[in-house]
Amino acid sequence: MDRIRIRGGRALKGEIPISGAKNAALPLMIVSLLTEETLVLDNVPQLADVMLLQRILGNHGVDVTVAGKRAGEGENSGQTLQLSAKNIVDTTAPYHLVSKMRASFWVIGPLVARMGEARVSMPGGCSIGTRPVDLHLDALKALGAAIDIEEGYVLARAKQGLRGARIHFQKTSVGATHTALLTAALARGESVIENAAQEPEIGDVAACLQKMGAKIEGAGTSTIRVQGVERLHAARHAVLPDRIETGTYAMATAMTGGDVMLLGARTELLEAPLQLLASAGVEITKTNEGIRIKRDGAGLAPVEVSTAPFPGFPTDLQAQLMALMTRARGTSKITETIFENRFMHVQELARLGARIHLDGETATIEGVEKLKGAPVMATDLRASVSLVIAALAAEGETIVHRVYHLDRGFERLEQKLARCGAAIERVAG
Ligand code: EPZ
Repeated sequence: MDRIRIRGGRALKGEIPISGAKNAALPLMIVSLLTEETLVLDNVPQLADVMLLQRILGNHGVDVTVAGKRAGEGENSGQTLQLSAKNIVDTTAPYHLVSKMRASFWVIGPLVARMGEARVSMPGGCSIGTRPVDLHLDALKALGAAIDIEEGYVLARAKQGLRGARIHFQKTSVGATHTALLTAALARGESVIENAAQEPEIGDVAACLQKMGAKIEGAGTSTIRVQGVERLHAARHAVLPDRIETGTYAMATAMTGGDVMLLGARTELLEAPLQLLASAGVEITKTNEGIRIKRDGAGLAPVEVSTAPFPGFPTDLQAQLMALMTRARGTSKITETIFENRFMHVQELARLGARIHLDGETATIEGVEKLKGAPVMATDLRASVSLVIAALAAEGETIVHRVYHLDRGFERLEQKLARCGAAIERVAG
């Protein structure tokens, strides 16, 4: 298995092009199931999860072509996918594929809306939490689908088609909001989605659906109105920049005391993390090209924060922030409120000399003078990049094992960091 070797202690300087957002690209690819015409997606990041979803959609009969790039062509333009679900040949999403990537469960809504039936494997367990799908099923039931669970599969049926409904979520869920939105787009009549997730990726999916002829109001707010239509048509849409990748490189720059321009990044997508970094003493400048992150020798001030749904502080930046706060001048507190088991990086950061105490859902981080390199183990996507951030500032060499976790959500991470002066390389396993 590949691993990554990092020699710490170099300040990051230069430019990093921000890729398209993984958490927008995945639901946008699934949108292609809603029409028999072709959906063209630009700025799609080259990630393991994107490739796996291409396979899953292919399984249903979606014809996916990738418009490659010539050498040297605009580094941060991502790839262009052409997705055509003219003929859906199979409405089953098998366990061996869904269990590899939870978001593939989201095919259930478009399949039952377009084909009147879907048989989708339950996603199964996950290292960061139990992650049930009850809210997705509640939304499908509200829209008129009959739901049964058989041998680990969800069977959703609506042979007479779906009808608009009021869907009130007991809890805010990004995935369940996507399911409700995509399904309601083809349901007869009006739907109102209440306590909807407000993440920018929801807004991006809604914008694409509107280009395809969907009637949607209020995406990005907690109440979304959808007027169902008979059918959706072809469209072209560019995936929005990845705010989690942006926040990750901002924290890596702050960790090493660097000066980096994040090309294509947009401040409005991550105001809460940027405000927190500013309060810790990081210089943040919005420019026409993106966001400039700078921290010279001045120390980092500790912070106190709880993760929350957008516009709150994202859980997908919690591990990265914890790595940064291991070097703050004082004691920080980070509370994880979204996932019940998202502290797997704590023991690995401790191997680098960090002082972190866990008490239920709150981590107390006592800043230390320095970290020291050591072999560490990646456990999930965001935890793995927090180890990279810590290693960039640690004395000596760190080896990060199981980097396949990183490849799921970070495009060309080593190249992007090496371009800014980091001593980082991938060691083939
Ligand atoms: C999305 O996951 C993201 N994944 C996650 O990013 C992100 O951490 C999460 O939203 C929260 O922002 C993608 O977009 C592909 P949720 P999702 O439904 O939709 C509970 C990453 O690192 N819940 O908003 O699965 C759930 O257990 C990944 O890129 C139910 O109880 O998250 C959790 O506690 C990790 N029942 C909370 O809601 C349900 O039916 C929020 O989960 C659904 C969710």
